[in-house]
Amino acid sequence: MTAVLQRPTRRAISDLPGPRGVPGAGNALQLRNTRLHLTLEHWARRHGPVFRFAIGPMPVVAFAEPDAINEILRERPEGYRRWREVEDVFREVGIHGVFSAEGGEWRTQRRLAVMALNTNHLHRYFDVIRVATERLRGRLDAAARSGESFELQRAYMAFTTDVASALAFGQDLNTVEHESELQGHIERVFPMLSRRINAPFPYWRYVKPPADRAAERSLVEVRRAVEGFIAAARARMERRPELYAQPENFLESMLAAQREGRYSDEEVFGNTFQMLLAGEDTTAHSLSWASYFIARDPALQRRLAAAAPVIEDPETTFEYGDAVLRETMRLKSVAPLIFVEPLEDVTVAGVDLPRGTRVIALTRYAGAHGAATFDPERERDQKRFLTFGAGARFCPGRNLALLEARTALAMLTRHFEITLDPAAPPVRERFGFTMQPTGLRVHVRARS
Ligand code: HEM
Repeated sequence: MTAVLQRPTRRAISDLPGPRGVPGAGNALQLRNTRLHLTLEHWARRHGPVFRFAIGPMPVVAFAEPDAINEILRERPEGYRRWREVEDVFREVGIHGVFSAEGGEWRTQRRLAVMALNTNHLHRYFDVIRVATERLRGRLDAAARSGESFELQRAYMAFTTDVASALAFGQDLNTVEHESELQGHIERVFPMLSRRINAPFPYWRYVKPPADRAAERSLVEVRRAVEGFIAAARARMERRPELYAQPENFLESMLAAQREGRYSDEEVFGNTFQMLLAGEDTTAHSLSWASYFIARDPALQRRLAAAAPVIEDPETTFEYGDAVLRETMRLKSVAPLIFVEPLEDVTVAGVDLPRGTRVIALTRYAGAHGAATFDPERERDQKRFLTFGAGARFCPGRNLALLEARTALAMLTRHFEITLDPAAPPVRERFGFTMQPTGLRVHVRARS
């Protein structure tokens, strides 16, 4: 049964229930980055929908109830910002952009991101999605012919890398057919950001664990590649000045705005990189989780196969596929936590939060708690569906993500049957800024 938030009296943070910590470290020793969301959700079950804990000396308040979470997220940007650690860490590694920006800076960058991801522009990206989907089909065909265990998750990452890079820089990387180093490099960056944002102190300034060193090397490589794409886009725009008035991808939009003096080189770089990061993992992991559910359920696959259209344009509908995707995103939300802090003293759900209190919204828990079984036909309550966030900072890539996922899912279920590889380790959840399956290996058969 859903826990009901009690709001009889005002409470201070110190009045809240929560796990016992140790002096100095707080609860830091109980928190493993790769399981962060699972530990917090476990605490929510034990301590209720609002609880406190501490990362080192820093108190953190967690909200796990949809009304409070909606109230908090919808008060942005005036009432709350993302954790200041988010901005600090992104700035320090040199990929600061719309996701990590605040105030006026956020407003200008957000406008451009929304414009680039506007539904009208999805038509332009759709050709890229269609080509990438055909290539993905080629890989699945090869897997079906070989009969060998197939790393579906890796194939989805290549698929979304190709779409995101076309959107971000107008480059067809074709990593689906030719795995590129770039994909591996990008994958190392997110977990490092997550480790640093949630660290009790900036450990990397004293000792860099091997994973951080590898991620920093990867970052250099991605930076080099992105700088190459920026130089190519500049040259292209010199040759075709009409692109300044009608840019064809996110990078060109930023370069056009830069000519009017609105963005520095750092901002162009940071935002383009963030677009690539934001578009890649999230959509690939969501597709992987959807495939995980369907691989375990032949009847569900048959039903999807019967309903799946040939997707020829972005307007094509696939209602049952959408229902499966939304139910997947509710239960296996790839963004299960949102990190914010109030800009002034506030009271939320009867709890007094001084300005700057670190708050974590347990968005997956709020949507899944009390309705934990996978049922695409369930009525989903919009207020609880927080996978893309809420309020002015909700995900601007939502429609693109759904279009990509819908197109890939229709192709998969029309042409193939998949089953989980029984020899592979069980699939578990791993957190690292986004939440992904630990490895999805399947057997693929062509559908007769
Ligand atoms: C299934 C796929 C995706 C999921 C689950 C997802 C989820 C999220 C969430 C939870 C946020 C934070 C929202 C908030 O603070 O309220 C976010 C922000 C963002 N997302 Fe997505 N996202 C997905 C795909 C994409 C794609 C495909 C793009 C673009 C290519 C994208 C671009 C962004 C950007 C730029 C932000 C920052 C917005 C801001 O701070 O104003 N996302 N996303």
